This record gives sequence, C-alpha cells and structure tokens, in this order.
Amino acid sequence: MSTLDPKKKVERSRNLASGYSLSNLIQSEDAVSHTIEMLLDWMNKYAESQEPMELDKFFTFTAFDVVGEVLFSKQFGFLQQGVDIGNAISNSLALNAYAAIGGFLQPLNLIVANPLVTWLGIMPMGHLFNTTKKAINDREKNQEARFDIVAHWFKNLAQHPDRMKLRDIHAQATTNVGAGADTVSCALQSFVYHMIRHPTAWQRVRDEIDAARKEGCCTDRVVSFDHAQKLPYLQACIKEAIRVFSPVPMGLPRVAPKGGVTISNRSFPAGTVLSINPWVIHHSKEIWGPDADEFKPQRWLAESAAAIEKYWIPVSEASISVSKTNMS
Ligand code: HEM
Repeated sequence: MSTLDPKKKVERSRNLASGYSLSNLIQSEDAVSHTIEMLLDWMNKYAESQEPMELDKFFTFTAFDVVGEVLFSKQFGFLQQGVDIGNAISNSLALNAYAAIGGFLQPLNLIVANPLVTWLGIMPMGHLFNTTKKAINDREKNQEARFDIVAHWFKNLAQHPDRMKLRDIHAQATTNVGAGADTVSCALQSFVYHMIRHPTAWQRVRDEIDAARKEGCCTDRVVSFDHAQKLPYLQACIKEAIRVFSPVPMGLPRVAPKGGVTISNRSFPAGTVLSINPWVIHHSKEIWGPDADEFKPQRWLAESAAAIEKYWIPVSEASISVSKTNMS
C-alpha cells in the first residue's frame, strides 16, 4: 500500500496477485463455510438462552477468522473462544482510528510507522501479529498445507527469489489482516443493519432464497458463493449496503509520480496528493439522485444500473478516477 513508485508497485503486485484469484480463493470455500457455521452456532446459542448478542463483535470475530483461513489456513481463534483474545481487535480498532488521521499527517505518522518501531515490535497488535507470523513460519515448513494465498506467495518466492523477499510475504500478510477483516465486518454490519431497518427488503431476500431452494439451490446451511451469485436481489442488497455505508470512509491518497500526471486534460505536478473519498461519491445526489442517502437495493435492478456501476467504488477508486476528476 505504501509503495509510491508505480513501476515498483506493479512489480510487487505481480508477485502477489495470483493468490487473490477467484479460482484460488474458492478452494478455501469449505473452510470459510465452516467458519460461518461457527457464527451460526453462536447465534443459535444466544437465541436459545435469549441473551442479547453483540453482533458487531461476532461479525468481527468471523471476518478475522475467515481472513485467517483464506490467507494461511488457520483461524485466529476468536470464534472458537467467542472473545476478543488478548484485546487484539480492540487494539487494531484503536490503530485504525490512528491510521485514519496519521495517514494524512506525515510528521505524526513518523512517530508510529517507522522502521525502528516495526523492528522493535512494540505495536499493541499482539495476538494478530503473533498468529500471522507463526502461521507463516509454520507454512514455510509445511508442504502439505492447503494451497491458500500464502502458499501462492511462497511458490512465487521459490521461483523468483530475485523479485521478492520473505519480508514482502510477512508485510503483505499483515496488510491483509488489517485490510481484510475490519472491512468485511463493516460490510456485514451494514448489510444486517439495513436488513433489520428494511423488513420488506429482508423478506424479499428470504423469499428469493426459499424460491432458489425449491429449485435445488442454496440447500446447504451456508449458501455457497456460486449459489449466492444466482440471487440478484440479495446481491443488490449487499451492493447497496456498502454503497450507503462504505467500509473505507476516507480517500486513499495517490501521489502523482515523477513528471506529473494528466487526468481528463488536467495536469498535476509530481508530488500532488490525489484522492477521491468513496463516501462523497456514494452520497452524491448528482450521481444517485435525490434519494442518494437512502438504502434502495432496487436501484441496482433498474435499467439504469449499468450506467451507475462505475460510480460504485467501495473497494477501489481507480475505476472512476479519470471520469470524476472534472467534478466540482
Ligand atoms: C468489503 C470488503 C472490502 C472493502 C470495502 C475493501 C476496500 C479496500 C479499499 C478501498 C482499498 C484501497 C484501494 C485503492 O486505493 O484503490 C483496499 C485495498 C486493499 N485491500 Fe481491501 N477491501 C475489502 C476486503 C478485503 C479483503 C477481504 C482483503 C484480503 C483478505 C483485502 C485486502 C486488501 C489489500 C491487500 C489492499 C491493498 C491493495 C494495494 O496495495 O494496492 N481487502 N481495500
């Protein structure tokens, strides 16, 4: 994330990209489904005891454990224990809050995000870092492990030791834990919140799944990725949930490279920080209409959906960076 030189960035991404392909990720589907079943077991347990359940916490436990599975075939153990082990998640949330400000204030950032602090390992991430590090070290020795994301990276490291280092794998794995878990938990929370707030939409999702079941789809306890793709209304609700409440709420900056950059006939000199905030785009009445702030899944099923698709940027602002530069 912090690589500014576009050429180096492309090289680094090339070493890591194969791990993220859908065909690779889908190999972890059974493990992910099993993790989701653990969440469902907790929900049943709370329902039976009629105790209130802190869904936000359990969604975050699930997101971390799913990321552990797809990354290095090992859960962090949050769902197993049903607690925030060693306050790891609370600490990472505090760090996210810091990053939201520190990322834009370089002098402040130097105090926390400098090589000495990294080397000393004094950041309060304990359980998250330790589990990640141990899983990667174990993986190095274990040739039999599932062909998860880290396995791809080790294969690339073995084939191209000149192109990447073991440290790159450690850094990327840690970035994934930070980037993947909080975002997925946030998306889940937004989806469930809006389903609770919009019972008609919720009922329509349930009807869609019931109808699919009659056709022999979605019959397992956890709906498979493949079957979920065949549920257009559910997909529209998920999309809309992360439009109105985007997990990454700030513009992630790009720095114009040497020689500057021209976007839509506007030139920016080298070093200019360029950024688009997903919340600004996702709530723009100019793009979405007067109901921009409202949760309306049907907008994704209308004929006009194809035209607005490019403004939906919860995971990347790159797709609209050119077309939006001239907006006021
Ligand atoms: C709903 C879920 C997610 C959302 C909304 C989200 C959002 C984002 C955003 C906005 C960026 C910055 C992209 C840019 O600057 O153009 C990003 C980058 C990244 N995300 Fe996610 N993300 C999600 C899930 C995940 C997951 C599950 C993983 C990994 C397991 C992940 C790993 C990463 C990584 C490694 C980067 C940095 C990419 C780079 O260096 O170019 N994200 N994500």
